[in-house]
Amino acid sequence: MRVLVVDHPLVAHKLTVLRDKDTSSPVFRLLTEELVTLLAYEATRNVRVESVRVNTPVTEADGIGLVKPTPLVVPILRAGLGMLEGMTRLVPTAEVGFLGMQRNEETLEAITYAERLPDDLTGRQVFVLDPMLATGGTLREAIKFLFQRGADDVTCICLLAAPEGLKALEEELDGQNVTIVLASIDEKLNENAYIVPGLGDAGDRLYGVVH
Ligand code: URA
Repeated sequence: MRVLVVDHPLVAHKLTVLRDKDTSSPVFRLLTEELVTLLAYEATRNVRVESVRVNTPVTEADGIGLVKPTPLVVPILRAGLGMLEGMTRLVPTAEVGFLGMQRNEETLEAITYAERLPDDLTGRQVFVLDPMLATGGTLREAIKFLFQRGADDVTCICLLAAPEGLKALEEELDGQNVTIVLASIDEKLNENAYIVPGLGDAGDRLYGVVH
């Protein structure tokens, strides 16, 4: 497993505004999309390509195109949905699948409540979108699920991670072809498994509190 923290002043600036508790939902949604586009630029550095030849108005030129099957983008519902637009803006030909996962706030176990993915992911590069890598439980289950379907290359784009969650994932996914791309590794998890300093509940900040 590889971890890449994107070190760029615009990433740090947008993240700072996201952290601010006074940032409104509409601004939070917009900034999340922009931030994901910047992270996706790094996350897609090893996207699979092939040589192509095109005719320019002047002559022929060598170039590259994305190989088929195209990458699969999988937002983890609900909060990962807020990252989808920022990702597909950069890779418009990607297909999109969905995983609905929720953590039980008492046991902190991840449960899958919805799934819409191709049955066979053999040979697919998969990009998972989940803003908060806290305990790592949700991502661990999602990645296991994708590997069971045949994926062999999974990149997770997150806004923030807690060191505890990253360590747990690293132990579990040692030697697997998984990359985690982040805007920041924060200080710690608190007793409610929230990331500190974090940005609060990402789903609530994107879409409001649903009771
Ligand atoms: N999920 C969130 O939305 N925020 C956290 O801090 C941890 C998990």
